[in-house]
Amino acid sequence: MERVIPSYGRKRSHGLSDTQKRNLADLSELHGICLPAEIIHPRELFSNRFDKIIAEIGFGNGERLINHAILRPDIGFIGCDPFENGVANALKLIRNHDLKNVKIFNGDARFLMEKLQDNSLSRLYVLFPDPWRKKRHHKRRLLSTEFISLLLSKMTADGILTVATDHEDYMLNILENLKNIPNTLFCNEINRLFQRPACLLPTKYEQKAAAMGKKSYYLRIYMPS
Ligand SMILES: C[S@@+](CC[C@H](N)C(=O)[O-])C[C@H]1O[C@@H](n2cnc3c(N)ncnc32)[C@H](O)[C@@H]1O
Repeated sequence: MERVIPSYGRKRSHGLSDTQKRNLADLSELHGICLPAEIIHPRELFSNRFDKIIAEIGFGNGERLINHAILRPDIGFIGCDPFENGVANALKLIRNHDLKNVKIFNGDARFLMEKLQDNSLSRLYVLFPDPWRKKRHHKRRLLSTEFISLLLSKMTADGILTVATDHEDYMLNILENLKNIPNTLFCNEINRLFQRPACLLPTKYEQKAAAMGKKSYYLRIYMPS
């Protein structure tokens, strides 16, 4: 990827205290991911050899990711987010629950995804990515044709990419982008966009949208079998 336009708004919402900073540094050492120099299989990031690896991109405060990881100790989870306060929260939850199956990349997922082997992730979640409402900001939207293609190349043959947003315009934009990726995938019919997969907990932004009476859209993208 040549030039990467930032797809996130801010990297921190408030300054971290000295203790939080120390915790972040110590916990990052244990549970953080450094951008690999070479292409790796994501399994190599864990001391356990997990058969399946799931990645969540833009996990926010990390509660959904951590909950999923608690429910599935047999699966390795990778969370990516440049938002430091959310990363600090996720790392704290990993420590509190003594989880051995979660690794956190505090950075732009586009850089990490490029370093992962193709056909290596069984599930990918991009839930409520920053919508960048104004037309002049649309170029900052994370789910470009290029990035969706990259994500699909990282999925195993039976992999699923789940995308959610409460912005109809963004969802329509994603569906348009999917048309530019011929013969590599098919996606659910539009009438299934409105169902949250039962296995997913609501994220903070989904709950916010629901509290405001806004509808959330879900899309599950598969590779053709
Ligand atoms: C609107 S928030 C949604 C957070 C969470 N998924 C939720 O639903 O509550 C979008 C998140 O995506 C993250 N994000 C934006 N661009 C990203 C990127 N290139 N890689 C990883 N995360 C990114 C932001 O930092 C932010 O935490």
